[in-house]
Amino acid sequence: MSTRKRKQRVGLTRLGRYLRGRWGRVALLGGVGVCSAAAPVAALLVVQNAIDEGMLAHDESQLARDVAIYLAINAAAWILQWTLVRGLAGVGQQVVLGLRRDLFDHLTTLSLRYFSGQKAGWIIARLTSDVDALSDVLSQGLTTLVVNTLTLCAAVVGLFILDWRLGLVALVILPPTLVLTRWFQVRSHAAFLNVRETIASMTAQIAESVSGMAVIQAFNRERAFLTEFDRANAANRETNTYAQYLNSLFFPGIELLGSIAMASILWVGGRMITDGSLQIGTLVSSIFILNLIFQPLQELSDLYGQVQSAGAAMEKVTTVLDTEPEIRDKPGASRVEIDGDLKLDHVTFAYGEEPVLHAIDIHVPAGGCLALVGESGGGKSTTAKLVGRFYDPDDGAILVDGHDLRDLELRAYRRQLGVVLQDPFLFAGTIADNIRFAHPEATDAEVEDVARAVGIERIARRFDDGLAHVVREGGAGLSAGERQLISIARALLADPRILIFDEATSNIDRPTEILIEAALDRLLRGRTSIIIAHRLATVRRADEILVVEHGRITQSGRFDELLSADGPFRRLARDLEGAVLYTEQSVDGSPASGSRESSWASVSSSDAE
Ligand SMILES: Nc1ncnc2c1ncn2[C@@H]1O[C@H](COP(=O)(O)OP(=O)(O)OP(=O)(O)O)[C@@H](O)[C@H]1O
Ligand SMILES: [Mg+2]
Repeated sequence: MSTRKRKQRVGLTRLGRYLRGRWGRVALLGGVGVCSAAAPVAALLVVQNAIDEGMLAHDESQLARDVAIYLAINAAAWILQWTLVRGLAGVGQQVVLGLRRDLFDHLTTLSLRYFSGQKAGWIIARLTSDVDALSDVLSQGLTTLVVNTLTLCAAVVGLFILDWRLGLVALVILPPTLVLTRWFQVRSHAAFLNVRETIASMTAQIAESVSGMAVIQAFNRERAFLTEFDRANAANRETNTYAQYLNSLFFPGIELLGSIAMASILWVGGRMITDGSLQIGTLVSSIFILNLIFQPLQELSDLYGQVQSAGAAMEKVTTVLDTEPEIRDKPGASRVEIDGDLKLDHVTFAYGEEPVLHAIDIHVPAGGCLALVGESGGGKSTTAKLVGRFYDPDDGAILVDGHDLRDLELRAYRRQLGVVLQDPFLFAGTIADNIRFAHPEATDAEVEDVARAVGIERIARRFDDGLAHVVREGGAGLSAGERQLISIARALLADPRILIFDEATSNIDRPTEILIEAALDRLLRGRTSIIIAHRLATVRRADEILVVEHGRITQSGRFDELLSADGPFRRLARDLEGAVLYTEQSVDGSPASGSRESSWASVSSSDAE
């Protein structure tokens, strides 16, 4: 309980942070709120005066004066209310905006490990339904909260001003109200936390199904997914039903207490009128004022559900905001222009318990090209991700020009790094947008240049609008090869010092493959590169080849050396497509097909420069 309290307080301070620079406005709104809450109570005091001093005393001018004042007070109340509702909604939205922005900003600093451990839908729920819950409370709820709390206080004060004895009578219901409210608080907090949890798990399931729809349909798994969804849906209904059950006990309960208070005032007030110690106008106004106590009480309780829900949402949001980014700059991290000498020194790495890389040693001199080959799951992509500093090694170090990667400023380092992922991701937008992603300031001409250099225009020609062709999120509508070509262009535009190229494993048609080959020549020129190859043609261009198996380097050397030695590379080469062709050629020493050989030669010559 105490940790929860602390969490709530932390949550509140966090929200308060977004009001920085606006406290003056908030204070002003507070003043407006007090006036606007006092207005209806003041109006009722005028009513009492109109009845007792006007009507009962047959004083018409007093009555006229009171009616005029009553109207004036209500007109002022209307303006105050309007100002308050608008102002508070503005403040609420300000907070929501800041919070959502911070959440998103924080997410972008979290490491890949966080994202692979978390369902996408779960994260999305934090930014959408949780922030929405807060938004509801802060935009409408805040007004309800402020107005009603102040009205409640003003009404109690007003009742005592009218007649302190009636005020005391009304207070009789205070203890049971507090007990009931406390009971509701405890129960409903847990209930609303559950509701948020079930909403998040439902969102997670929807997100997963939407992105995996092709597989679901291909394997006729629609029913199974529906069953699973039904389960999540039913869980959501159950938690919601329970929350409603709590409401059904609480709200009528509050109403009942209100009626008891009303009955007590009628009874006691009626007897006081009979014995002449109370005037009728005071009793009538008291009854109206009692409404000003119970109506806010009900509205506040109604809001309470929303506030609980928002509190639960804030707790969830806080867990995200409190996640420390695993990869971040050390204090005093240095910003260096790198030359490109890359060294992995005894690097050991595990995603979980079991290491997937065991004390790996790699050295690529500046401008050199290293190829990693090996069976699936050997640890090639993992090596590449470590070089990109998406993870830090558990043991050993990665050195760039002799600097430990952990001592370099991450942003500055990544600016000099190009990555072409095995399964490149494209964002919704045009092909040109996706290329420009690497370097948003690039001009259209620069984008067209790189597109031409890697041969994208041949693909773009298929579409009416060329580079302006719109691709959907994830690159749906393009083949794997086309996606990879676009991401090569993206990397080329970034003009990095170190390049990581993780070749697509999926089957790529020959024409696209030839395009990629040529694009790669262009991309690798004059940079330090690590290429993860699944095709022999790609491997051939490397200065050195490492065979990675089960997280260890089992063989290394140049293409020809490796092919002539009896080792794992030869076994691999036999499995790789085109292996037979290359084996034969290397055995009888004849050149490979013209275009490839010349591209190989061009890479060698550019390396020699
Ligand atoms: N995010 C992750 N969380 C946990 N384990 C992972 C993760 N990514 C990869 N692995 C595991 O690490 C090992 C190495 O994976 P990696 O992706 O580096 O293989 P690879 O050599 O690139 O394979 P491929 O040739 O199929 O691309 C595998 O056993 C894999 O299951
Ligand atoms: Mg891989």
